[in-house]
Amino acid sequence: DRSLKIAPSILSADFANFGEEIRAVEAEGADWIHVDVMDGHFVPNITFGPATCAAIRPHIKTVMDVHLMIAPVDPYIDAFAQAGADILTAHVEAGPHIHRTLQAIRAAGCKAGLALNPGTPAEAAAPLLDLVDLVCVMTVNPGFGGQKFLDMTAKITALREMIGDREIHIEIDGGVDPATAPLVRAAGADVLVAGSAVFRGGSVSDPAPYGENIRAI
Ligand code: DX5
Ligand code: ZN
Repeated sequence: DRSLKIAPSILSADFANFGEEIRAVEAEGADWIHVDVMDGHFVPNITFGPATCAAIRPHIKTVMDVHLMIAPVDPYIDAFAQAGADILTAHVEAGPHIHRTLQAIRAAGCKAGLALNPGTPAEAAAPLLDLVDLVCVMTVNPGFGGQKFLDMTAKITALREMIGDREIHIEIDGGVDPATAPLVRAAGADVLVAGSAVFRGGSVSDPAPYGENIRAI
């Protein structure tokens, strides 16, 4: 299914109100909910872990898309699977055994995603395509919301070609807004993560801007 899917990142939501924020963006048209897990080691920021994921799971009616910016990954896969993740995405840069990590994610019952940092070429995904359901192309260096979009169009095009007929989503993460979304869509992306561009201007008591922002992407 290559139809456009918008995945608001709760990194830009009110951390004291995840349940309400999730209900609000889903009511306003979010297709997936993107959950950014950061460890202060793989990336220079810390967010939350499996317990928070488990707590927000009952509030998500769509798809829980968990982006693991942690290293190592393997010791925590079962905990995030138990927390109810539908998709678990790990970074190719997070350790020497990404092949094993992707196998373990599927063995735990989740769909497997592979994320590529801006400095990592499309070719890094080539040996792994039979193990993944999603490739996440980072269009910022991971760690923070609200950063400037980095143009990875050539990488997206190369991945779309490499993927061919396989059922693999191409997800774009970082700096997606109404100006940059058409570029990545045209290059072949189908899932667009957006944090600041979705949550700006609204709140749980005034959620209409969330819907306007989603439709504008
Ligand atoms: C960045 C995260 C992104 C981030 C995107 O490290 O992986 O998901 O929340 O935020 P925006 O859309 O504001 O760039
Ligand atoms: Zn993310």
